[in-house]
Parts: sequence; C-alpha cells; structure tokens
Amino acid sequence: MKRTKINILTALGETPGQVLVKGWVRTKRDSKEFSFMEVNDGSCLKNIQVIANKDLENYGEIQGVTTGTSLIVEGELVASPGKGQKWEIQASHVEIVSLAPESYPLQKKRHTDEYLRTIAHLRPRTNKYGAIFRIRSEIAFAIHKFYRDKGFRYLTAPLITGSDCEGAGEMFRVTSLSPTEVQNAGRMDFTKDFFGQESNLTVSGQLSAEMFALSLGDVYTFGPTFRAENSNTSRHVAEFWMLEPEMAFCDLEGNMDHGEELVKYLVGHAMEHCEEDLSLFFQFVDKSLPALMDTLLKQEFARLSYTEAIDVLKKSNKPFEFPVEYGIDLQSEHERFLAEEYFKKPVFLTDYPKTIKPFYMRMNGDDKTVAAMDLLVPRIGELIGGSQREERLDRLENRMEEMNLPRDPYWWYLDSRRFGSVPHAGFGLGFERFLMMITGVTNIRDVVPFPRTPGNIDF
Ligand code: 4AD
Ligand code: MG
Repeated sequence: MKRTKINILTALGETPGQVLVKGWVRTKRDSKEFSFMEVNDGSCLKNIQVIANKDLENYGEIQGVTTGTSLIVEGELVASPGKGQKWEIQASHVEIVSLAPESYPLQKKRHTDEYLRTIAHLRPRTNKYGAIFRIRSEIAFAIHKFYRDKGFRYLTAPLITGSDCEGAGEMFRVTSLSPTEVQNAGRMDFTKDFFGQESNLTVSGQLSAEMFALSLGDVYTFGPTFRAENSNTSRHVAEFWMLEPEMAFCDLEGNMDHGEELVKYLVGHAMEHCEEDLSLFFQFVDKSLPALMDTLLKQEFARLSYTEAIDVLKKSNKPFEFPVEYGIDLQSEHERFLAEEYFKKPVFLTDYPKTIKPFYMRMNGDDKTVAAMDLLVPRIGELIGGSQREERLDRLENRMEEMNLPRDPYWWYLDSRRFGSVPHAGFGLGFERFLMMITGVTNIRDVVPFPRTPGNIDF
C-alpha cells in the first residue's frame, strides 16, 4: 500500500491506488448510504474527500464523526465524480483516533483574525494559518539555502548578552536573583547575579557577527531577538526573528546590492515553492499582491539619501500626523508614503543623521551623517535596517564618547578595530515583516506562531 500524505497528491502528481491518510476532519456530511468527510493533514492547503460507505463495520461510529476529529483512513484513491475535487478516497477502513466534542472552537464558518489570536494553539488548523506557517517554514529554509550557496557561514550569536547593540535601552533583563536579593540599599546589585554583571536578552546579533565577519569572511546570524519596546503597533512584537548578514571588505553600496539580491531571491523562492499556499493570499487577502511580487522581482529598487527623502516628503504636501523636519526619525507613515505612493517600489534610504542612529555606524565625510541604509517597502515600511560599520578606531572611540557609552563592556569590540580592522557592512532583515510583505497579512501577530506583545504572553 502507498503510505501517503495528502500533499503527495498535489506535489507529486496524482495516480490512483491504495493510500493511507492520517489527519483531521474539516467538515462532514451524510447521505443515506455514505458519509463524506473533508480531511486535512496539515501538509498542504487542499483537503481530500473521504467517502465511507455503510458497509464499513464501524459505520455507526463514523456517522458520529465531528469537525476536528482525528482519523486514519485506508482506501483507494480514485477520480472523483463529484464537483470541487479531482480525487477522492473510497475508504476501506476508517480508524477514529480521537473524537472532537461539539465544543471544538473551529466550526465551519469564517473566524476573525482577532478571535483566532485568542486560540493561537488551534489556528494553524485553519486554511489561512496553516498556509502562513508552511510559508514561514519554507522561507526560513530558503534563507539558509541562499547563504550556503553563496558561501556564507552561519553563526549562532548568544541570546544572553552584556551589551546593548542598538543603544536604545529597550532590553529584557535576565537574572537568577529573587526579587528580595536584587536590592542592595535601594539599588540593583548585579555583582551577586548569575553573571556578576547586568545581563539582558539580545536585541541583535550584530556585534558578534562583526567579530566573525572579521575572521571567517562573510557570515550571517538568523535567530530570535528581543525588544522591550512598549509600542503596541501592528509591526512590532517583543520577540521576533532577525536575519543578519555581515560582510567583510564591503561598503554601503555592496550592502545594498546584497539586500536587494536577498529580497529578490526569497520572493522568487516563495513564488516557486509556496505557490498553492500563496494563492490563498492572492485570492482572499490582498488582490494587489501578485503585482507587488512582480515589482519586487523585476524592478530595480530605488536608492536615495535621507536628506533627499526629507525633501520629497516636505514637497508632497501630505498631511502627515508627524510633521517632517530634517533630523526626525522617520515614522511608518513617511516610510510607507515613499515606498508605496512616491516610488511605488522598495527604496533604500541612506546616510541618516548620526543623531538618530547607533554608535557603530560609519561616519561620513560631512561629520553629520552616517553610512546607514534602511530598506522601505510598500505596506510595511522598514524591512531592513543596516549600515557600513565604523572600522576606524579613533572615530569609533570619539563617537562612543559623544554618546556617553561606557567603554568597558565593549573592550573586545574595540579590539577588532585595533587588530586588522577592515571596512565591513551588514544589516538586519525582520523575518516577520518579510512574511507580512509576501502574504499581505497586516498584523505581525498573525505571522508569529505564538506572539509576544506588551501584556500578552499566553501560550
Ligand atoms: O533596524 P534594526 O533595529 O537593526 C538592527 O538591530 C541592526 N543591529 C541590524 C544589523 O545591522 N545587523 O532592526 C532590523 C530589522 C528592522 O528593519 C525590522 O524589520 C525588524 O528588524 N524589527 C522588528 N520586527 C518585529 N518587531 C520588532 N519589534 C522589530 N524591531 C525591528
Ligand atoms: Mg531600524
């Protein structure tokens, strides 16, 4: 007998024969002689129709099957005479593994994303969320494939760190002390703590990646990062995954070229390997997605400086909620205007004022701006944030002093500029934001298996 998963039907072509399917019932209806069950095993979007006829020895039991019930079905795969499906299984044996009670929350009707967030443990059993998380899995694989094929090395950066890469102070403290042990004369005493100093969950693997780029050449990290930003937006979560390539002997141009190549590759991979799942989003979530995919694949991304972008924004006469002035940190509304309305394609903004960027970015000749680059994309805003790094020791030390950064915790980082320093560059791509872009999902909570946001750590 051919032991098969449902996806074999769609992936390998369809041939009649004996099959074995294990899955969950989506819907069921009965006629006098038969029970028709739509079964899905999570391997693909499509269900397979299973027909159980009254001659089966446990037909009585089968008639009691409810939505959500788990089954093992043996039978013959045959061309379906019915409408809506090409193939069906004439069951010769149906084993009911576990019957779901009527209180099963995923009954056959359309549920809102808000409701499904409250049952995040069950939502991957729906068409839409099944598709999202299969795509998520495939794109994670594509990232590793892209880098392996290019000869990059994969680095796992530590999740617990003693430094704040972004300098934004938005970190989750890690401690093994009990609340009563923490206080010493009203102050936090970290010398008694596990690591003997203050430690936090990482906000970025970049500083580690830089050390390895200056040793192995081109490297990337891909892993979870944590930010205690109290921003309850549709684009921020407290725990998200970031892809961070870091390239030795690379400047800002090379960094942008690499970012553009990466995005095009991942979109192409999704189109090729997630066709069926993406079709759900193209049809039911956002009809403009195919055009966006086309733009991402075929058009050269725009590039312009922050200063030029400020000019464009000012001249647009758009009534932005946050007024535009040179020196502001761009808001999502500004970023989206540039990518969505003005350029109508992704755009790299470069050379931001040093005052709104972290200490490690390379100072430009004007002493006012740094070699930063953000990639802004339609609908999402910032997808990538990166820069060429400051490789000159004296400039780096000056900048840290200007920003009142303590030198001690960064002694090893400074060392890298002392011993064989080279120009290098890299960036971080928000994995969830990329998934939002290609699926048209508008809330980041819906592309994360179990999202962590302010006030919410259920599941
Ligand atoms: O721009 P960010 O903060 O850059 C860095 O952390 C650099 N150290 C990366 C580097 O150069 N190696 O973050 C990078 C990307 C953003 O562009 C965004 O896509 C995503 O990470 N991101 C978030 N995604 C979800 N939720 C959040 N709270 C995010 N914060 C940033
Ligand atoms: Mg950023």
